[in-house]
Amino acid sequence: MKLLVISGSHRKNSQTAKAAKYINNNKNAFKQSRHIDLCELDLPFWDALSDYKNSSPVWQAAAAQIKEADALILMTPEWAGTASPLIKNLLLMSDLADTAHKPVMLVGTSSGISGTYPVAELRMNALKNTKLIPVPDYLIVRYIDQVLNEQQAVDQHDQNLRDRISYCLDMLNNYAQAMLAVRTQFNEQEKQLQQKYAYGM
Ligand SMILES: Cc1cc2nc3c(=O)[nH]c(=O)nc-3n(C[C@H](O)[C@H](O)[C@H](O)COP(=O)(O)O)c2cc1C
Repeated sequence: MKLLVISGSHRKNSQTAKAAKYINNNKNAFKQSRHIDLCELDLPFWDALSDYKNSSPVWQAAAAQIKEADALILMTPEWAGTASPLIKNLLLMSDLADTAHKPVMLVGTSSGISGTYPVAELRMNALKNTKLIPVPDYLIVRYIDQVLNEQQAVDQHDQNLRDRISYCLDMLNNYAQAMLAVRTQFNEQEKQLQQKYAYGM
């Protein structure tokens, strides 16, 4: 199974990207893992008008990685209680054919005790047209400056987080396998109807 970790901070060398790199390097049962740090890409802002799918090589490279993945991890800092605009932009730009019925794990990060809001926000209202499936497990990386910095955990909080990441990756891998079986079951009629009902209600 192939994993794609997408970090959505707007800041280069961000703490969220640091945590994404940790996950990318500790992929557990996944055969392959890739990391996209959205602030490193010069993606256009989605406006439903521009022909970015044909005109933006940066987008085409990102879309190819999304298409290849069996499971995604979306990671966003909590800024002013909300998810990062770059993460939401990516979801708006994504092609249903590349995302539908793939499991996604949501991760919120915070320099303090928060980080819950963006996970709740993405779960509730950001995935509809992608048909990505948020798995029950999620992560909130609290006090992010203090964790995942060294090769070994520096305290119990750091260790607990690493253990939970490991568990979450294994669960996500199970969902990736199960959802691959679901995706390959669709017949031609169901594939066509999926386009007809692409936007939900
Ligand atoms: C403008 C701004 C607003 C922030 N708002 C929140 C917030 O509402 N809740 C919270 O827990 N952390 C907040 N933080 C802290 C970020 O969550 C923390 O810096 C982030 O997880 C790591 O950001 P990075 O990945 O861009 O380095 C805020 C940080 C900035 C710069």
